[in-house]
Amino acid sequence: MLETLQQPKPDKILSLSAEFARCAIPGKLNLGIGVFRDNAGNTPIFASIKDAEREKLKTEKTKVYVSPEGDPVFLDHILDLLLGSEIEKNRFGRVQSVGGAGALTLIARVLFDANPNATVYLPDPTWVNHVALFEMAGFKAAFYPYYNHQNASIRFEELIATVENAKSNDIFLVHGCCHNPTGTDLKKEQWRQLVSVFLSKGILPIVDIAYQGFGNGLEEDAWATRYIAKMMPEAAFAYSCSKNFGIYRDRVGLAAFLSKTEKEAKIAQAQLGVSARNLYSMPPNHGSALVRSVLADQGLKTAWAHELNEMRVKVQSLRKNLASALRLHIDAPTFDFLETQIGMFSLLPLSAVVIEVLRREKGFFLVGDGRINMAGLTHDVMDNFAKAIAQQVRNQTS
Ligand code: LMR
Repeated sequence: MLETLQQPKPDKILSLSAEFARCAIPGKLNLGIGVFRDNAGNTPIFASIKDAEREKLKTEKTKVYVSPEGDPVFLDHILDLLLGSEIEKNRFGRVQSVGGAGALTLIARVLFDANPNATVYLPDPTWVNHVALFEMAGFKAAFYPYYNHQNASIRFEELIATVENAKSNDIFLVHGCCHNPTGTDLKKEQWRQLVSVFLSKGILPIVDIAYQGFGNGLEEDAWATRYIAKMMPEAAFAYSCSKNFGIYRDRVGLAAFLSKTEKEAKIAQAQLGVSARNLYSMPPNHGSALVRSVLADQGLKTAWAHELNEMRVKVQSLRKNLASALRLHIDAPTFDFLETQIGMFSLLPLSAVVIEVLRREKGFFLVGDGRINMAGLTHDVMDNFAKAIAQQVRNQTS
């Protein structure tokens, strides 16, 4: 039977990490997968998380199952962090998920049960895994225009026109902040316009938010999510704790539905729980217990927010530094946009050939579409990196 299986196409982010591990070039740099790195290239464990972990080891008495829906105290803390104190939470049905991808998987399954005829619209471009996640649930996926590669801006009018041409009850996935891969978010006024078209068309938005705290700050990065939660009768939310708590491999997230009534919210939550039960039965608890401890303890929470803010500030300074270094070596404002974008990612406007030369000859690993994880850079390599890009850009244009 198994001989009928075909070799799958490599994932463009994950395959890069495997090739990076094999690369022997000294000073090689993995600018692919979206993880924070310190100056030595390591992805550190937050001190606040380590403190919570030590305490957990001392006090944990059982590892018995929690439930398919997960730990309600953890879930309440995450909803508070995401939605703030002003939003009424009784219209939210929520469960714990296996990271952000797990949250999207649960949401997609429940939505497919509710409306299998909906088209799921994703931004062009978007995270590489989005299409497969929704298609696996049975949905037809389509793209909406999002990013103009020519001038690093949002294709806002085309985006609005796409929503206007969609069917009532279609689904639009938006990135809550720090858009992956472009680093370019809508302005508040644009969010307001978009939400008003969602409302008039009867669209259900899914907010995928995996980088709260990496853009402009914890509160600022939640603005669009909170606005959607305040304005929409129905919406879905996929939250990841991987990056902002640095617990990538522990797989911690939340899947939530905002429903019209409390009763519908309870049913939506039960459906998310059934999907979890059918897919993997119970979520892991180790990482979520650490997040719960950090958010429940004012001292640990303050320390965590401080650590996260330091990471955010570092990434912004790397952006600024790279933009200046490229301006210097290219003598043109081609890459100035890097400074104003936010979060871990940006798309460098480089040809596939240049990206390959940077990887093969210099050991600088960017994703094939030009996506760079800014958090993988260091100030020490900046000049060399900018020089290598400038040289390739000159070769390309001469
Ligand atoms: C990324 O976009 O690099 C991260 O979200 C990691 C992943 O799973 O792709």
